[in-house]
Amino acid sequence: MIWLIAIFIPLYWWHEPTRQEAAIARIKKEAMTKGAEIFLSHCLACHGKTGDNIPGKHLRRTLMEEALLTKVISRGRSGTAMPAFGNEEGGALKKFEIADVVAFIRNWDQSLFDAAAARLPPKTAPSPGPGPTTPAAASKATATPATGGDAQKGETVFSDMGCAGCHGAAGQGDSAPSLKGKSAATIKKVVRSGQNAMPSFDAASLSDVDLENIIAFLVQSK
Ligand code: HEC
Ligand code: HEC
Repeated sequence: MIWLIAIFIPLYWWHEPTRQEAAIARIKKEAMTKGAEIFLSHCLACHGKTGDNIPGKHLRRTLMEEALLTKVISRGRSGTAMPAFGNEEGGALKKFEIADVVAFIRNWDQSLFDAAAARLPPKTAPSPGPGPTTPAAASKATATPATGGDAQKGETVFSDMGCAGCHGAAGQGDSAPSLKGKSAATIKKVVRSGQNAMPSFDAASLSDVDLENIIAFLVQSK
């Protein structure tokens, strides 16, 4: 019996550090997973899937230290489109959520991001096919009318996708130009293809339905 304990105790102690390391690794992975989800819902619109959308600001390979990242994300960068996310600044994120998104950025792992995207699919499915929506195609595509998006939903999407952060809450213009009087065709083209500092939004990040809703919102808020 004694010999069993004599073997077991050292074995136990020998395992202990690795168990602690495993626990720390698990906690870190959980923070990064949560961070990837936060990035997807709050940062994707401007910074893009790989964190490279904004010229010269490559979040994936950032050399910024944890403290500086936390500060920029919490307080935003005044005079730029980078909003303040800290709760105490009126933003949407609590301290620990900012810590999670910082953990994700500093250990950028595209697979975590893709997994988060798979768990949190876009709210509405992308349209069934490419090309302009003719009235005939619209009547075939059930429940997705070509015109008459929902302005109220559009307002929410406009804010959630970060459009409002650059163009102002009602598209009246802020760090980016006013969108008043823009045609639906212009809005669609620029949103899908991007233009200079204007990031592009593909159907995976902004569905056709949500784009119609945004257009309805912008037309209505003229
Ligand atoms: C409305 C658009 C917008 C959203 C949403 C946004 N950012 Fe930014 N972010 C910017 C812009 C524009 C800059 C560049 C500011 C500048 O010129 O210094 C920036 C800069 C940054 C920087 C500094 C990068 C550097 O190298 O200087 C970090 C870090 C950052 N953003 C993180 C985030 C995180 C994390 C989120 C989500 C929680 C987020 N951003 C959401 C627009 C946005
Ligand atoms: C990171 C800031 C930023 C975000 C986010 C952003 N835009 Fe823009 N947008 C710009 C800038 C800057 C321009 C001007 C581009 C240029 O100089 O050609 C622009 C241009 C446009 C234009 C073309 C205006 C014109 O006169 O040609 C439209 C339409 C537009 N944005 C719609 C949107 C919509 C809709 C969204 C959200 C889905 C959005 N933008 C998100 C910065 C942004």
